[in-house]
Amino acid sequence: MSGDSPCAVAAPVATSRTRVVVLRTTRGSMTNYNYVVVDVATRQAVLVDPSWQADVVVGAVVDAGARVAGILLTHSHPDHIDLAASLGERFGCPLWMSKEEIAWSGYHAPGLVAIDETPFHVGSMTIRPMLTPGHTPGCMCYRVDDDLFTGDVLFAEGCGICPDVGAALRMYDSLGRIRREIGETTRIYPGHSFGLAPGQSFATVQRENIYLQFSNRDDFAAFRTRKGQSRAKLFTFH
Ligand SMILES: [Fe+2]
Repeated sequence: MSGDSPCAVAAPVATSRTRVVVLRTTRGSMTNYNYVVVDVATRQAVLVDPSWQADVVVGAVVDAGARVAGILLTHSHPDHIDLAASLGERFGCPLWMSKEEIAWSGYHAPGLVAIDETPFHVGSMTIRPMLTPGHTPGCMCYRVDDDLFTGDVLFAEGCGICPDVGAALRMYDSLGRIRREIGETTRIYPGHSFGLAPGQSFATVQRENIYLQFSNRDDFAAFRTRKGQSRAKLFTFH
């Protein structure tokens, strides 16, 4: 965490159809990125993984003149869902999470909707869920036009922790799917950063990220679960 303001709202990233408001929020030593994705045409919006500092999230929605139609949850870890239930009630909107993640975690909240990979629409935006297990069994990435929200699956500089070799093998397959299906110009919006700002092109992420350099599942799994990884360093998010 840098020594400046504990939270910040970065300049929105505008595409022809959507505007991504990047929110950097903190609790204690943890730093998260979460997002307001606004459909320019209708002002309908989705939140992605609202975690801490409700005032920052609500302020960004108000500043964008947006109406929140739903909340996309990449997975059930507390630093990605902490505000989901309260903001869902505040905005009167559904919370979307993969049915696999709900079954695995037991997460429940008013308005929670179990989803699969069927695309759905918010305003003129098409939301395309991608089931990408590994960090947890039900991790979802969400593709909205040419933006991909990756939670703890893919960071610009790494990928999420995997609890065992089996999970790491599933992570390899999930990253392989992203490599196959995502174009080089797609912008990657992760849940955390080790230094690079959210919104890097996938071409840049492919170049910077050692976890995307493997071509063998077993080698990847051995590296992802290698001994001697410092937990303090693993959570040194910026
Ligand atoms: Fe996580």
